[in-house]
This record gives sequence, structure tokens and C-alpha cells, in this order.
Amino acid sequence: MSWRARFAEIRTGNRELAELTTWKIGGRARDFLEPEDAEQALALFAELHAAGEEPLVLGGGANLLIDDGGHERPIIHLGRLRDLDEEGETLRVAAGYPFLKLVGEMSRAGRSGIEGLAGIPGQMGGICRMNAGGRWGEIRDVIDRVVVATPEGERLVLGRDECGFSYRSSALPGLVLEVVLALGRGDPGALRARAAEYLKIKGASQPLKIPSGGCCFANPEGISAGQLVDELGLKGERRGDAQISEQHGNFIVNLGQASFADTVTLLELVESEALSRRDIRLRREIGIWPSPR
Ligand code: EPU
Repeated sequence: MSWRARFAEIRTGNRELAELTTWKIGGRARDFLEPEDAEQALALFAELHAAGEEPLVLGGGANLLIDDGGHERPIIHLGRLRDLDEEGETLRVAAGYPFLKLVGEMSRAGRSGIEGLAGIPGQMGGICRMNAGGRWGEIRDVIDRVVVATPEGERLVLGRDECGFSYRSSALPGLVLEVVLALGRGDPGALRARAAEYLKIKGASQPLKIPSGGCCFANPEGISAGQLVDELGLKGERRGDAQISEQHGNFIVNLGQASFADTVTLLELVESEALSRRDIRLRREIGIWPSPR
């Protein structure tokens, strides 16, 4: 039986992807698959690989720029994996759990450790995969272990030190199914106040109300990428509806109908100016899913 037949119940054909990203840019997926639980996600991931496919994994669609052409690679969306279980002092969080919601719930429950990550969109799996964070910490600080499905269909449990975490990056060998967090305890009022304060600071410097992919580039040695773009005089540069934010230079905002091509043009403009005028080679923090041309 083909994988399309076996997973027909969780497959949608010709699925529009733009609405599933924070940037609101994207095309249509020929095969969009939404596993019901971790077991099915593991089976699907293995079966796709066995069939010679190279699936892409979509979480909360943050920090991700999807081409507005068509997509032939199967796309696995983990949004239905939303279990949350307390196990003593640790918390098991399924890969599809919305992170904004988790931060709010944990602060209210008096569980500390992720309040510094308030305002980061995305789902638990993606947050872990890219070691999301900012000025007030990063997710690896509270990770106890990560459960991963390998392309061969194995279920691996990796301790924090086996995940290859570094600044905005990891080296996880497959699909994240579940993340186990080691959280502390604190006063709910104080945790909520801290999260609110961080959000306020972010809201003052970042264009949080306009669709975007978050920070486009990892900060290079010695300078914030946003400040670099600012110093290069590129804030406000516009191609179609894509614009380098006037508020924060590391954001490219979608003012309405921004295309993939216009957004990539701006990314490349920043990269070439940083290289030619400052001798800085920027690393993209965002993921990019181009369509076959
Ligand atoms: N700055 C400018 N001009 C700008 C933007 C920033 O001069 O257009 C200056 C600021 O004034 C400040 C410095 O650059 O002195 C740093 O800026 P900011 O505090 O905004 O921090 P950042 O390094 O740009 C990082 C993360 C953000 C995270 C914030 C706050 C990276 C690449 N970015 O930004 O993460 O929200 O700290 O914690 O690590 C993301 O990863 O998507 C993201 C937005």
C-alpha cells in the first residue's frame, strides 16, 4: 500500500501554507499530513523516508519563509500533538504545543524557567530545534531531554548535552516528538510580572503587530544584526509589500501581499551590503523552503 493510501485520513492535498506561518507568505503543498499523535508521526516519518521522500516539518510557522510556488515534498504538520503532562518536577510537552500558551500557563501555575521566553511564537518542537531565545535566556537552559523520531523509525531519547545545542541551533537527528522541561517554582504574580515586562520591552523595539518571520539573521560576533542593518541605512527598504522594518532592522515585515521573491531580494540585499561594506558574513536564522523551479 502506498503511503498516500495508508495515511489518507490525515492527508490534505493542495493545502495553502501561508496562513500557517507568522509571515503569511507561502504556496500550496501537494501533500499535507497531520499526524494525530506521536506514534503516528513516527510511523509516517519513517514510511516517507523508506519511500524515498524528503519530508519537511512544519510547526508553528515562525522564523520560516515558504515559497509562494508549489511544494512537492510532503509536509508534516505537528499541530495535533498537544499533550502536556507533569511528571514530578519535569513537564513533558508534545512537539505541537503552542509556546506562547505554554509560557502563559506555566507563569500562572508558578512554574519558572520559561518566563524569559515570553512573546516567542511557534510550537514546542520548533522552539527546541532552533534553541529559541533572546536576551533573557534560551530554551536549552531548561531542557532535560528530547524525544526524537529518526528517519529509520527509531524513538530516541536524548539528554540536553546530546542535542548539539548552540546559539539558535541544534543538531537533532530527526523529528522532535516531545520535549521534557525541567522547570523551577516561583511566585505566579512575580513570574507573570516578569513575562509582561519582557514583552513590553520587546514590543517597544520589535514590529510585533505586523506579520514577519521574526529575526532574519543570527547576531554576528560583536554586533546585533538589527543594529548592523540600521547602520547600513537599510531600514525601510521596500520591494513590493516586503519591507525591512523601520522599527527593527533584523525584521522583514509583510505589509500585505509580500511575495517570496521580494522578501528574498531584501534578505540578499542585507547580506551583500553587510559583506561588501562591513566584511560581515551573516547567517540566516530563518528557515527557507524554496519551490522547485
Ligand atoms: N538596534 C539598533 N537598531 C535596530 C535594532 C536594534 O540599533 O534596528 C540595537 C538596539 O538598540 C540594541 C541592540 O541593537 O542596543 C540589540 O537589539 P535588541 O535588544 O532588539 O536585541 P537583538 O539582539 O536584536 C535578540 C534576538 C531576538 C530577541 C531579542 C530580545 C537574535 C538574532 N535576536 O535581538 O530574537 O527577541 O534579542 O530578547 O538573537 C528572533 O530570534 O527571532 C528574535 C527576534
